[in-house]
Amino acid sequence: MAMDEEDGAPVLRMRGIGKRFPGVVALQEVDLALYPGQVTALVGENGAGKSTLVKILCGVYQPDSGEIELAGETVRLNSAEQAMQLGVSVIHQETVLFDELSVTENIFLGQQMRNRLGMLDWPTMKKRAVAILQDLEADIDPDAKLRDLGIAQKHLVAIARALSVDSRIVVMDEPTAALSWKEIEELYAIVEKLKSEGKAILFISHKFEEIIRIADNYTVFRDGVVAGSGQVADTTQDALIALMVGRKVDQIFPKQMVEIGETVLEVRGLSHPTEFADISFTVRRGEILGFYGLVGAGRSELMQALFGVTRFSTGEVVLDGAPVTLKSPSDAVKRGIVYVPEERQRQGAVLPLPIFQNITLPSLGRLSRNGLLELAQEFDLARQYAARLELKAASLSHPVNTLSGGNQQKVVIAKWLATEPRVIILDEPTKGIDVGSKAAVHGFMSELARQGLSVIMVSSEIPEILGMSDRIAVMREGRIVDTAPRQEADAESLIRMAIGATQEAGVDAA
Ligand SMILES: Nc1ncnc2c1ncn2[C@@H]1O[C@H](COP(=O)(O)OP(=O)(O)OP(=O)(O)O)[C@@H](O)[C@H]1O
Ligand SMILES: [Mg+2]
Repeated sequence: MAMDEEDGAPVLRMRGIGKRFPGVVALQEVDLALYPGQVTALVGENGAGKSTLVKILCGVYQPDSGEIELAGETVRLNSAEQAMQLGVSVIHQETVLFDELSVTENIFLGQQMRNRLGMLDWPTMKKRAVAILQDLEADIDPDAKLRDLGIAQKHLVAIARALSVDSRIVVMDEPTAALSWKEIEELYAIVEKLKSEGKAILFISHKFEEIIRIADNYTVFRDGVVAGSGQVADTTQDALIALMVGRKVDQIFPKQMVEIGETVLEVRGLSHPTEFADISFTVRRGEILGFYGLVGAGRSELMQALFGVTRFSTGEVVLDGAPVTLKSPSDAVKRGIVYVPEERQRQGAVLPLPIFQNITLPSLGRLSRNGLLELAQEFDLARQYAARLELKAASLSHPVNTLSGGNQQKVVIAKWLATEPRVIILDEPTKGIDVGSKAAVHGFMSELARQGLSVIMVSSEIPEILGMSDRIAVMREGRIVDTAPRQEADAESLIRMAIGATQEAGVDAA
């Protein structure tokens, strides 16, 4: 088995893998090889089968057909523990961590270290946790409870967990989706380090710049089959996209020019004891206001306050010239303000109900007549929004958790759009959404603005911010440090303002 690794043979080979779910062929005759010291990018549209393959590779799902060879030996991966013992580490798309446990406990859960007396050896685990976190340059307290960490930090804990065991294969399912520019750079450094240690890496991403930058090989899935594979050096972004969607797509769908009307929402001097301070801005009819900043700059916390999830301590929110109280999300929805959160799974956005009910639930008040629910109408509404967001589902009656990650995101966006709000706040609207559907989401946002909605878009993606916003607000450490029309903004100045760099500091426009 050592011999294989020396002469460039793959450490993992999957052959003829097939997997069906009720009504869906998720994978069909899939082949994939991973090589030591190399990064293989796995790309494909939402629902193409990427996460399904990952779950087979880590023993969570059993394939219906095909075989898996690890270092030349045929293996069966019957459970996640077994896959881990065989050296497969996975950072999943929807990280399963425990809010009530500490960072150290999360890292070692299910793989605790014991001392010679067979007792749990917390001091050693904590030391090891500190070392791994230091390696990751993550400034995280090993004793902190997970619930007190931000989304990017949680993700780093998930990465630390995957690195805590000695693995030959590291799988990362959309690892940068939740991270901002700075953490993404750090993640790339981690990937380089893993490569230099001879680990084989499977890297799933919807971002082509990063695939071109860090991957050595690629495999493209289309509707559960391999549409192509090869070396990244021999291909281009456009060629990969063509393999993936079978048509040409524009990555950014620029905002249509629409007439911007009167001020709809005005925020005056909003402050929160810990998360943000002295926030003032306006959004007008037909306008898209972008919020750029690093993860942790307070953007999501501010938006949650506007949606009545958290309270602000001072300041006021004025809608159509009159101050409004926002004590709860239902207050906000009644006023026509809706918020599509970033952490969509967690924030109760996806309910264990059929897809169509997830979409229509907040709109039922509007749909029911004399207290009677019109089921056909409900289904129609769901179908309409599902189609506009290019939702890929076998049936809208299926439970929402049978959808792929990206398609669950679309359900949440559809759900809030269906309420026909006046102000919609979209937090990282295309996170986890494939390149084809991304254009659909951007096109839809543009259309909403044309219809007179006011859109607030939080995004950490510079092309999205620059392509979609009429004006851009930059937040840093809880404050708005700049607001400017799009014409006056460029990538470099946005990044500088977000990190608080001086003119001299060298910053690559990511
Ligand atoms: N547990 C399940 N039950 C039923 N269908 C499922 C299940 N898991 C996945 N599917 C279906 O299998 C197909 C592939 O899903 P998968 O999650 O692998 O896609 P993906 O490529 O990871 O997409 P994304 O980019 O959105 O994460 C989809 O049609 C999905 O709805
Ligand atoms: Mg997935």
